[in-house]
Amino acid sequence: MRFILLITLIIVSVVCDTQERSPRVIGSSAPITSNDLIEDSLINNELVVSFVVFRHGDRTPDQAELDLYPAWQIDDKVFFPYGKKAITIEGRQRAFLLGQYLRERYNESISELYLPEEISVRTTDYSRTKMSALVMLAALYMPQDRQRWHPDINWQPVPYNTLPLEDDDLLYFDHCTWYNHLKYKVYEIPPIRNIIDSYRDMFKILSVETGRNITTPEEVFFLDNLFQAMAFSTVTIPKWAEEIMPQIKNMTKIDYYVQYYNRELTRLSSGVLLTDIVNITKAAIAGKEVPKLHLYSAHEHNVAALLAGLRVFVPHQPKYGSAAFLELRRNRVTGKYGVMVMYAPETGGPGLVLPIEDCGGEPICDYDKFISLTQDLLLSRQEYKKLCSTHVMS
Ligand SMILES: *[C@@H]1O[C@H](CO)[C@@H](O)[C@H](O)[C@H]1NC(C)=O
Ligand SMILES: *[C@@H]1O[C@H](CO)[C@@H](O)[C@H](O)[C@H]1NC(C)=O
Ligand SMILES: *[C@@H]1O[C@H](CO)[C@@H](O)[C@H](O)[C@H]1NC(C)=O
Ligand SMILES: *[C@@H]1O[C@H](CO)[C@@H](O)[C@H](O)[C@H]1NC(C)=O
Repeated sequence: MRFILLITLIIVSVVCDTQERSPRVIGSSAPITSNDLIEDSLINNELVVSFVVFRHGDRTPDQAELDLYPAWQIDDKVFFPYGKKAITIEGRQRAFLLGQYLRERYNESISELYLPEEISVRTTDYSRTKMSALVMLAALYMPQDRQRWHPDINWQPVPYNTLPLEDDDLLYFDHCTWYNHLKYKVYEIPPIRNIIDSYRDMFKILSVETGRNITTPEEVFFLDNLFQAMAFSTVTIPKWAEEIMPQIKNMTKIDYYVQYYNRELTRLSSGVLLTDIVNITKAAIAGKEVPKLHLYSAHEHNVAALLAGLRVFVPHQPKYGSAAFLELRRNRVTGKYGVMVMYAPETGGPGLVLPIEDCGGEPICDYDKFISLTQDLLLSRQEYKKLCSTHVMS
């Protein structure tokens, strides 16, 4: 069986929906131990349908991030030739690496020929996720002789779908007022508030140095993103920021802890996608023809949200090119179906198999059990739209 050589098992911190969760989870770094059992359990389990949600490649900053630090005078020339909020050369290379990894992993599920019925690709309505999808697909579908259309060009067109910005449930973090309202309420839960307040010196430094009143974990996370995004250039991060970078990184983690703090936040962020996944896997089990590989070119929040919805998320910011996987598998011996969750925190693997919490600690979770564990998260697009347009009094 052709498979990733190194499959590792992450022992995941508890993610549950009570309001009493220990804030210590924020600081946890998941211990990783190798587990040969997974290889064995996969031998008898064939892939039926797979879903991969990944983060686009490295990018330049967007205006909203630059606006958080008006005192940092950055000449727009440094963004040439990409422009702002655009994928860089490194970002393209990373997306290509991801495509190669997907080809390796799914070489037996999908043909080397591009067959439209085998694959579905969706992107958010951002240049960087579309361009990442294009480059990823260039690696996934290097033209075979029969599909080569130009003697010198080792590329073929493969299409993707994009929902209009205003209808895109993958962009809940931008569009869903209700989600943001609930998230901001979590900042005020006493143990969380206390942790945030313990960083008051950092907030003070940030406000003085940036020239903006920085008060929320989210704003710190955006500044963190700004500094990360500037890594493509020769512009160096200011010394004051380097000095408090450990605190900034902690605050980013705290924001990720808050983003999926309870079931309602998790439902708003992953419920529509999970509903699609459940629908498609049910159809596949019922013997209907469905694409074998479903790819979503999206953002770090989407990678995190899927992991949170699948009960395997440890709070952190997923990196450029990272990917979350859900695989429907069928046991060749028993005929039973199960679901395996994997996370590739670094582009190109290795993938870490994450046993779904409350599913017996097994790498493959029984399908019916998986359905019952995700039931309360399911959300139709209509419901999502209705909830997200809930008027919030501020
Ligand atoms: C970051 O958080 C961890 C875990 O809560 C803590 O041990 C560490 O001291 C924090 N670092 C800084 C610089 O605040
Ligand atoms: C995919 O499978 C084909 C045919 O089985 C093989 O020739 C090719 O080397 C494989 N590619 C990868 C990346 O494993
Ligand atoms: C900064 O923002 C906070 C929260 O919105 C507010 O309470 C505070 O008065 C603001 N400070 C300044 C100096 O604007
Ligand atoms: C469920 O999947 C089927 C195809 O397998 C599709 O025709 C149908 O529209 C889907 N329903 C929903 C609610 O997404």
